[in-house]
Amino acid sequence: MNQKKRILLCVSGGIAVFKAAALTSKLTQNDYEVKVLMTQSAEKFVTPLTFQALSRGYVHDDTFDEPEPDKIAHIDAADWADLIVIAPATANVLGKLANGIADDMVTTTLMAATAPILVAPAMNVHMYQHPAVQRNMTTLEEFGYRFIEPDDGYLACGYTGKGRMAEPEDLLAAIDHHFIRQAHREWHGKRVLVTAGPTVEAVDPVRYFTNRSSGKMGFAVAEEAAARGAHVTLIAGPTALATPHGVQRIDVKSAEDMYKEVHRAYPDTDLVIKAAAVADYKPEDAVTEKIKKQDDVMTLSLVKTPDILKSLGEQKKDQVLVGFAAESQQVEEYGRKKLHEKQLDAIAINHIAKEGMGFDGDTNEIMLIFQNGREVTIPLSQKRDVARHLLDEIEPLITGRGS
Ligand code: PMT
Repeated sequence: MNQKKRILLCVSGGIAVFKAAALTSKLTQNDYEVKVLMTQSAEKFVTPLTFQALSRGYVHDDTFDEPEPDKIAHIDAADWADLIVIAPATANVLGKLANGIADDMVTTTLMAATAPILVAPAMNVHMYQHPAVQRNMTTLEEFGYRFIEPDDGYLACGYTGKGRMAEPEDLLAAIDHHFIRQAHREWHGKRVLVTAGPTVEAVDPVRYFTNRSSGKMGFAVAEEAAARGAHVTLIAGPTALATPHGVQRIDVKSAEDMYKEVHRAYPDTDLVIKAAAVADYKPEDAVTEKIKKQDDVMTLSLVKTPDILKSLGEQKKDQVLVGFAAESQQVEEYGRKKLHEKQLDAIAINHIAKEGMGFDGDTNEIMLIFQNGREVTIPLSQKRDVARHLLDEIEPLITGRGS
């Protein structure tokens, strides 16, 4: 996916320089080509040698250091990059860039750059809130710079607040997303609704029915759609998974909660992907007091939950509907039945009785069947790769639709 994309990492002087070193390592491990530029202040925290070893390249820190006579180093670095990342970006560097000051290797290169620029600010909370810093960031946004917001939390200066540079894995995700987005313009601005995870149906205040869905498949779909530039709403049953970068998440418990949230979002949605494992039945009466142990046999009466996907099919206007089906026998036949009964555009069937497929694990294999009869097998792979493949296959369904 990365095809040796070239990242120019500009490191300015703050304690978060150590995170920039970790980011360099992650980038090279993920097959990016990395060049590093440092300010003199950055070198007070970590030496250029660290970045040289991690990036496997010469680190430039002085505009007038020209090791290759046939090139002008800062122009060459600017032209070389597919993407420029400033991490950490100090208040000083933001101020210089917003005001056209170019007096070191980092700022002269950035002034000469035409590649997209991602900025990860890092500073004390009061510095971050200072009107000058806020104004400079607004100016840079107007120039086309994109920001990766700092986190809220404990800061090296002892304060707690916003200013801590985003973690290296979040920066890597933002960089990955930049290139995925570039490659999938069809998805920009599309409103995608994804459901994921199990539902939980209360029996009494202590007990409940649920299922083995971890949410991994749906979260992977949401992450990939957001990376492509879609506006993603993820309606999730109870799961311990972290919210993917750029996704708006709504947590629900029961099938009825999910029904309400899905229908609230549905009118403003272009595409629904329903990967959640929704309970088909729930206890007829969820009692408010704990059920006491009594006879040897206990009978619970169950009633059907609303079939959310079926109701979406019935109310469909111009939305694209993609369902999942978890089957353990007569897989294709049952999957096709759901495709037609729920009026779907496509159904992703997983054979949950097979090793490595379906619930809980990190892998899946899918048989994707379209309304027009087209069939595609997405081979056994990591759920994130399955999600990528799935969205590639359904991309023609959303072409030219919606926002
Ligand atoms: O979460 P993971 O651990 O990663 O596992 C992934 C998964 C196996 C849960 C996922 O790949 C999957 O197959 N999800 C659908 C599971 C399921 O409930 O399938 P089903 O065949 O019972 O339902 C068919 C479709 O109708 C599904 O899109 C489901 O969301 C929807 N449905 C079902 C019942 C109901 N009351 N309302 C619904 O909307």
